Amino acid sequence: MPGRVEGKVAFITGAARGQGRRHAVRLAEEGADIIAVDLLEDIETAPYPLAVKADLDETVRQVEALGRRIVATRADARELGQLRAAVDQGVTELGRLDIVVAQAGILTMGTNTPQAFLDVLQVNLVGVINAVTAAAPHLGQGASIILTGSTAALLTGSVDITGAGGLGYAHSKRQVARLGHDLARVYVDQQIRVNVIHPTNVETGMMDNEFMYKAFRPDLEQPTREDMIPSLASKSPMGMPWLSPDDVSEAVLYFASDASRWVTGQQLKLDGGQLLSDTDAGVPA
Ligand SMILES: NC(=O)c1ccc[n+]([C@@H]2O[C@H](COP(=O)([O-])OP(=O)(O)OC[C@H]3O[C@@H](n4cnc5c(N)ncnc54)[C@H](O)[C@@H]3O)[C@@H](O)[C@H]2O)c1
Repeated sequence: MPGRVEGKVAFITGAARGQGRRHAVRLAEEGADIIAVDLLEDIETAPYPLAVKADLDETVRQVEALGRRIVATRADARELGQLRAAVDQGVTELGRLDIVVAQAGILTMGTNTPQAFLDVLQVNLVGVINAVTAAAPHLGQGASIILTGSTAALLTGSVDITGAGGLGYAHSKRQVARLGHDLARVYVDQQIRVNVIHPTNVETGMMDNEFMYKAFRPDLEQPTREDMIPSLASKSPMGMPWLSPDDVSEAVLYFASDASRWVTGQQLKLDGGQLLSDTDAGVPA
């Protein structure tokens, strides 16, 4: 039986680890070849380590173990020229481009400086615009653009009130949500689809680090991952501490595949019901 994205090629930013790696492997499992980029160095205002080269090598290993091809490059999503070079090289080697997963991101929560606000916009918003811009010349009818937002885009009184870095994160994700909607309008008559996925907390390096343990358990001197988990779960009406990257990859696969061929402009909440009590938006009265 053919895979759900058999013969397609997907460009994924932030693919060295976390959700990006899982999306690469999940799409490869369903028959896609992959163009992967990642920064592979830290950003000072993000209070946790970003991916390293060994992480991207592991993504390559996992995709190739499935018999799929992958072109993986170190590239900074903030630099359009670097993304263009990576995408052009990938398309030269793999022959086409059908899917964009613009999801490289940082969380600057806890860094209360204007620089933190600006840095997170550069990665999470400008980086997304750059990814779409780099991909655009290669996309045709039936292509799918998938942006990663966050429940932070849809909530107030959460990460946005934690200081300049947290506000920057929320601001960047609100802009990504709006960008997805307006891009969907721009591309609709070319039958190129644009959808946004908004996950709540996900079990990746962005959440699973000492800074976040402390943020969720300020009452403890040296909190651990195990100390953080009940605190995460207490914020979910379903009692879910965090999504697995697989939960998000299934949504990416749906939007990437022809199963969603007439679906565009969606803002998909993957939130374990977190936003049910906060908003009636989009629901008929
Ligand atoms: N983890 C969560 O709780 C959560 C929740 C909602 C949304 N998100 C979003 O999901 C996306 C993926 O994050 P994740 O959870 O996999 O975290 P992660 O930190 O594991 O992965 C992010 C990846 O992006 C890369 N990256 C950062 N800056 C980059 C740049 N300038 N250029 C290229 N690559 C860069 C990192 O090196 C890393 O590999 C992000 O957009 C994030 O904001 C995460």
